[in-house]
Amino acid sequence: MRELAVAMIGAGFMGKAHSLAYAMAPVAYRLPAGLRRRLVVDVVEDVARAAAGDFGFEEAATSWRSAVERDDIDVVDIVTPNDSHAEIAVAAAERGKHILCEKPMAIDAPSAERMWRSAERAGVVNMVGFNYRHVPAIAYVRQLIDTGQLGTPYVFRSTYLQDWGLAGGPLVWRFERARAGSGALGDIGSHAIDCAEYLLGEIRRVCGRLATFTSTRPIAGSNGAIGIVDVDDAATFMAEFASGVTGVFTATRHAWSRKNQLAFELDASRGALKFNWDARDELYLALADDAEAVRGFRQLSMGPAHPDPWWPIAGLGTGYLETTVNQLRDFVHAIVDGGTARPNFADGLHVQRVVDAVIESSRVHGWVDVPAAAAVTV
Ligand SMILES: NC(=O)c1ccc[n+]([C@@H]2O[C@H](COP(=O)([O-])OP(=O)(O)OC[C@H]3O[C@@H](n4cnc5c(N)ncnc54)[C@H](O)[C@@H]3O)[C@@H](O)[C@H]2O)c1
Repeated sequence: MRELAVAMIGAGFMGKAHSLAYAMAPVAYRLPAGLRRRLVVDVVEDVARAAAGDFGFEEAATSWRSAVERDDIDVVDIVTPNDSHAEIAVAAAERGKHILCEKPMAIDAPSAERMWRSAERAGVVNMVGFNYRHVPAIAYVRQLIDTGQLGTPYVFRSTYLQDWGLAGGPLVWRFERARAGSGALGDIGSHAIDCAEYLLGEIRRVCGRLATFTSTRPIAGSNGAIGIVDVDDAATFMAEFASGVTGVFTATRHAWSRKNQLAFELDASRGALKFNWDARDELYLALADDAEAVRGFRQLSMGPAHPDPWWPIAGLGTGYLETTVNQLRDFVHAIVDGGTARPNFADGLHVQRVVDAVIESSRVHGWVDVPAAAAVTV
């Protein structure tokens, strides 16, 4: 069987999740290729060395440039902070490597566009780590919409709420515009945008407001020096989809006691539904065709009748790791069988265009158009 040798760049929080996915995917699914954890790279040498042992990689290194130059690497997996995604991805594409890149795709749309062009020209498989698409309940929502069971979608309301920004923690890279691109908007709002575009098609216009509540933070390891937060702590925007659907979004890392609450509701002509990550194996669905006496939200428990079942009975639970495994499965199939893995760089680029448009909209206090994906050519 073919074997794909992986160089993973970055060995932090998400490096651990991807490493677990490399270990789990061949057990969870009969993959068409083996996955070899060949090389882990981190700029911090101790972190790279420890990760090789902890995450099961054969070698550790500190230079991503040397890694992407190597002939014995097939896949470059980018799990570094957002400011390095573009440079690594472009170099990897030029060396013919398949690329799995964490979200948000880049710090801005021009960078994401360079990544997309390079990957298209090189003809390499490319994917962005918007893993929530691979939640069974969300994939099932897409089936309900595509098969017309909900009728015409009208209004989509999405919130992505976390509370770790309230703890007064240090100025990590997620609070620096140069490294992150934006704050809650690009970090977690991008997941909500990708889910929305996966379910309902492209957003074509936005009107938003960004706000920063904690404007300074201590600089880690600096003896009390204070740094400026130059990204949003909360992003709220209205959206108009090309299909005519109306969207309302809020993303913040300043929402007490909400830990990782990606939630949405959809109202449509023949039904409505509600999803909440806190109960990710459930979907609440109401259908207009139900008899009047029992009409209302029913609680579905995801299982073998729904997409991506892991177990033969419903309700055993699919979690964060399972979504990264499902994502990796699609990536490996695209490499071996041909075709594209979704969400690909074109999808990630469009999400980035929405993010940039929300930032611009907040600056000008008005609606801003989002260029259509079809408007970009290689
Ligand atoms: N899909 C998801 O749900 C999800 C969740 C968390 C993070 N992410 C994304 O994953 C990426 C990484 O986030 P994280 O939370 O793992 O960050 P992190 O800070 O925990 O880890 C990043 C690691 O990259 C290393 N690094 C930084 N620059 C590097 C470079 N140029 N070359 C090699 N190594 C470098 C750092 O030393 C660090 O060990 C980000 O893009 C983030 O948005 C996605």
